[in-house]
Amino acid sequence: MRTLLILFVLIHSDKLLRTGGCEETQDQILSITPRTLEQVDILKNISSQHETALWQPVSSHYIKEETEVHLFVPANSSETVKGLLHKGAITHEVLLSNANELIEMQTRNYSTDPRSSSSFYERYHNLEDIFYWINKTQQDNPSTVKAILIGSSYEKRPLYALKLSLNNDLNKKAMWIDCGIHAREWISPAFCLWFVQYALAFYKINQDITDILDNMDVYILPVMNPDGYQYTWTTNRMWRKNRSVNRSNNCIGVDLNRNFDANWCTEGASDEPCTEIYCGAYPESEPESRAVADFLRSHKDSVQLYLSIHSYSQMLLFPYSCTLDEAENHNDLLEMVQEAAQVIRRHYRNTYKYGSGAKTIYLAPGGSDDWAYKLGIKYSFTFELQDRGRYGFLLPPSYISKACNEALIAVKTIALKVIEKT
Ligand code: ARG
Ligand code: ZN
Repeated sequence: MRTLLILFVLIHSDKLLRTGGCEETQDQILSITPRTLEQVDILKNISSQHETALWQPVSSHYIKEETEVHLFVPANSSETVKGLLHKGAITHEVLLSNANELIEMQTRNYSTDPRSSSSFYERYHNLEDIFYWINKTQQDNPSTVKAILIGSSYEKRPLYALKLSLNNDLNKKAMWIDCGIHAREWISPAFCLWFVQYALAFYKINQDITDILDNMDVYILPVMNPDGYQYTWTTNRMWRKNRSVNRSNNCIGVDLNRNFDANWCTEGASDEPCTEIYCGAYPESEPESRAVADFLRSHKDSVQLYLSIHSYSQMLLFPYSCTLDEAENHNDLLEMVQEAAQVIRRHYRNTYKYGSGAKTIYLAPGGSDDWAYKLGIKYSFTFELQDRGRYGFLLPPSYISKACNEALIAVKTIALKVIEKT
């Protein structure tokens, strides 16, 4: 009897240990810093061969010694991945142990949650809701907002840009903002919605937005990659690219921010369809990048400011990303982002890095900002919004308002400067 009891306790304590110890029930984000070349190789292998998703850097190609890697590890690969790390004597830290909970928080069915006091703009929205919002915004503001169909996605979803025209002056200049080039960067579409709502609510109330809208129309594309965005809501939260099918192999998707005609597919992009930075078959091969490029080509005489919204890492970037060369108006651009970063620091006590893309993050050819710049839009920027890696792409909804407000104040700062200079 006694031995039985002991046996019972032993078996069960083992079970307890196992569930509390190494068998993960949730997806995790690990922070891993390889110290040796050998460890770099092990990590490259792990991130490309297992069901993981790299958060940082964007492709395993960029993993190097003494540089932090953020890796999404699904629960069912956890044991294997941690085993491999252990074997290579690579230490790791768990950045987030509750990714599933955070994803649930981001997608919670808010309409049925009576405890929620947050507004529409302080939540993430699926594609259907965003299309509904686009339509409603246009209907509620018939004299100032117009939805323009600029093209359709690979899976034939519409690409709607909103045109905000608050003042009927002739020969007005314009700015362009696109959001959601990369599917998993959910704070980006949230920003586009935030911006529109702010512009409509604060015109004639806030001096800066009034000055901007008196001098410029705004074209705003809330979801440039609707197929990818939809996919992150239904199937894989970590998806980045669009959803175009490659004929020659099984891999899906082109990185739309490598698909523009700016030193296309040189160092920093990949011609390998299975990578996250696949440049596509040729420049503008994708209907999404083609639609944006076509629209800007036909509006290049009015559009003076181009803005593309991404996340995460808190950076204000300008051309070039496709070469280490300096842009012709480098000092102008630098001055603008420097001031924008200062304004964010002053108002929100938050730090944004700034500079040319290639020198601030990495060489990344084929980007929309460089392409727009080369087209002749001399004020061209990419913003990387919150955060710096604490939550990464899983930024909780409670952070939306601060993330959007600080980006908004940066947009205002830059737009006012553009008006002053042109
Ligand atoms: N994280 C962005 C990307 O990888 C950076 C964009 C900077 N601009 C650029 N043209 N690459 O696409
Ligand atoms: Zn991005």
